[in-house]
Amino acid sequence: MWGDSKTMLKSRGGVGGGGGGDGGDYFPPTPRKDWSTGLLKLVTAMVIFMAGVVIGLSVSANVSRYYYNSHTELFFPANTYSTSYCDRRGASGDCGPGFKAFVHPPYLAHSMTDDELFWRATLVPTAEEFPFQRVPKVAFLFMTRGPIPFAPLWEKFFRGHQGLYSVYVHAIPDYKLNVSKASPFYGRQIPSEEVSWGSISLVDAEKRLLANALLDFSNERFVLLSESCIPVFNFPTVYEYLINSEHSFVESYNIDTPQSAGRYNRRMAPHILPDQWRKGSEWFELNRELAVRVVADYKYYSIFRKHCRPSCYPDEHYIPTYLHLFHGSLNANRTITWVDWSRGGPHPARYGAANINVEFIQAIRNNGTQCLYNSKHTSVCYLFARKFAPSALGPLMNLTSTILDF
Ligand SMILES: *[C@@H]1O[C@H](CO)[C@@H](O)[C@H](O)[C@H]1NC(C)=O
Ligand SMILES: *[C@@H]1O[C@H](CO)[C@@H](O)[C@H](O)[C@H]1NC(C)=O
Ligand SMILES: *[C@@H]1O[C@H](CO)[C@@H](O)[C@H](O)[C@H]1NC(C)=O
Ligand SMILES: *[C@@H]1O[C@H](CO)[C@@H](O)[C@H](O)[C@H]1NC(C)=O
Repeated sequence: MWGDSKTMLKSRGGVGGGGGGDGGDYFPPTPRKDWSTGLLKLVTAMVIFMAGVVIGLSVSANVSRYYYNSHTELFFPANTYSTSYCDRRGASGDCGPGFKAFVHPPYLAHSMTDDELFWRATLVPTAEEFPFQRVPKVAFLFMTRGPIPFAPLWEKFFRGHQGLYSVYVHAIPDYKLNVSKASPFYGRQIPSEEVSWGSISLVDAEKRLLANALLDFSNERFVLLSESCIPVFNFPTVYEYLINSEHSFVESYNIDTPQSAGRYNRRMAPHILPDQWRKGSEWFELNRELAVRVVADYKYYSIFRKHCRPSCYPDEHYIPTYLHLFHGSLNANRTITWVDWSRGGPHPARYGAANINVEFIQAIRNNGTQCLYNSKHTSVCYLFARKFAPSALGPLMNLTSTILDF
């Protein structure tokens, strides 16, 4: 190939400095027989020397056309380092995966085990500057069993904002989402495992979603959502709110009830003491730093795996407690996913078609109560809401042009 031979010539001519002298290395030494062999060798050496000079000159002329600004690059041409050369051509092939694919994996399929994935996802660059234009993205992590009934609503929400978000879906193994190629959900299923609700496998799935999303170095904020969640603001509002927040949004509290403090297990001491125990909604929002911490934690995860069993639910306690122990100051201690527990019982209220109207959505967007955002009061406390029945889709699509504004 033209490209390859050019690299070879250049590295030979460039690195050799004089070019000709090195030419002899390519011919094995022959034993001296008589004077004619000696003369032949001399002539050969002269020819090779001249050829070397010609090649050297033409190559350096070629090089200086591209690199006339830098002597360093003239003597140590960037092209001799094959990876950067391959990347410039946008090829992978013989060159291995390119830099672009390393920082923004284009496909989500991989064969890593959880341990391998978590290890790899928690490698953090030491250099403060990125060698590429990094536009921070929000990663939307959908934990579902099967279909995503509100996919059409989300598709409308995401439309026109490519490059500012990434979607990841953890479904039951072997389930294949049926979406069009144009959908932001297309090809976004991560390698998944069986999840049984209320068990540690739910935490495993959360960590798996976080870890897969961490492989993309532009993902900065990580929101966990379910198939019954909807957005209640448009994308630009959600993006600005999350990207500019000084805190992550993980609900965290402890009250003296059987469903909260009552789930603490004394065997967790001395690592977790009763007053360090926390509870909160499973539906978190984490920044990149905290996402790495959660995926990297093994010690506290293991304690929950061992000692938080029904009627203790790890998904409601592990992340709030872990953050409280080590990173409390980075947490807003509130959730941005609205839910209605007012009816009591073990499950929150579920809203269908009959419930959807402008007033209802408006009450979620601003119910008259204020909350803190970057230490200031605001009426915007919830960006997402649950739980909604599939029948709510039609009426919600109807509201996108008015109150939802997308
Ligand atoms: C996938 O969706 C299309 C369009 O909605 C539908 O026609 C098709 O039957 C679906 N396929 C499966 C396997 O559900
Ligand atoms: C959240 O709680 C932690 C203690 O876990 C506290 O340090 C932090 O200041 C609280 N966050 C806010 C925004 O008040
Ligand atoms: C608004 O929401 C907050 C938090 O969910 C709740 O405590 C409060 O009662 C609500 N206010 C009204 C007027 O519904
Ligand atoms: C959408 O709104 C129109 C006009 O207000 C109404 O006639 C229609 O029934 C609504 N569709 C749904 C699915 O709610």
